[in-house]
Amino acid sequence: MRRVTAKVRKWVMGHKAVVVLLAGIATSMTALALFGTTMVYTSTEAFCATSCHEMANNVTLEYRDTIHDRNRTGVRAICPDCHVPHAPIPLYIAKMGALNDLWVHHVTKAVDTREKFEAQRSKMAVRVWTYMKGNDSRECRHCHDVAKMDAEKQTPMAQRQHARGRREKMTCVDCHFGIAHQEPKGGPGPQEIEVDRSLIPRSAIF
Ligand code: HEC
Ligand code: HEC
Ligand code: HEC
Repeated sequence: MRRVTAKVRKWVMGHKAVVVLLAGIATSMTALALFGTTMVYTSTEAFCATSCHEMANNVTLEYRDTIHDRNRTGVRAICPDCHVPHAPIPLYIAKMGALNDLWVHHVTKAVDTREKFEAQRSKMAVRVWTYMKGNDSRECRHCHDVAKMDAEKQTPMAQRQHARGRREKMTCVDCHFGIAHQEPKGGPGPQEIEVDRSLIPRSAIF
């Protein structure tokens, strides 16, 4: 590293300020483009659903043909729509957290067979539910705007339950779970998980 810095310093000393400035701008633009491309590529369906067998052989197969994959209008929710925050700062934080997935895939291999995946599913689901309860199902609400739901067009059962949800301060995943993947066998359900939501105000970007 020190040799590289010494080389850069020597190059900078030997050139005009304007050349150095242009080289700096070009380097920064390249870095920025690389960063942007990584963010976009790692949020595609191809990357999330099929680039590793842990997802492709389990949750991805289960998600196929669910309401969010295939429906009358063709408007879909793909993996990152539900699992990756949409605001920039939380997005970057989530992407950093995904480094753990690389670690598990390459090093610990904790879920590399169906059996291992099933054994860990409850733990993973609890993590997702805790996260979603903690932010009042923010990712669901990115598409489902409660204020714009036409209750009259919903089934009587949906109307009743949504009124109850509001009354009892429940969140979407308290009732709508196992909608994109199989439910874990055993373990607590989302309603049994206690999350202190007062720590995370609705207005916060996180
Ligand atoms: C990218 C947008 C998007 C996101 C994110 C999203 N949904 Fe949906 N959801 C849809 C669309 C579109 C439909 C309607 C499909 C249709 O019927 O045409 C739908 C349908 C539904 C339905 C109705 C199911 C049925 O059988 O009629 C439920 C319940 C639902 N979503 C819950 C959720 C929950 C819970 C989350 C968060 C975990 C979520 N959605 C995230 C777009 C989204
Ligand atoms: C207290 C439980 C509960 C909560 C909380 C809840 N729902 Fe529902 N939701 C239901 C039930 C029950 C239905 C009706 C299912 C049916 O008719 O088969 C339903 C139906 C729906 C439908 C389909 C409506 C239709 O008529 O086709 C959508 C979309 C939906 N919910 C989205 C959401 C979203 C988004 C949230 C969070 C803002 C949410 N729900 C919170 C219980 C709940
Ligand atoms: C409509 C929202 C939605 C979509 C789309 C979605 N998920 Fe999920 N995912 C959830 C929820 C909610 C959970 C929590 C467990 C549950 O309710 O099934 C979850 C759980 C998981 C888990 C933990 C293991 C488990 O089964 O609980 C993994 C891994 C996962 N999702 C990956 C994916 C991948 C990969 C895709 C795309 C192929 C995807 N998800 C698409 C909502 C979604």
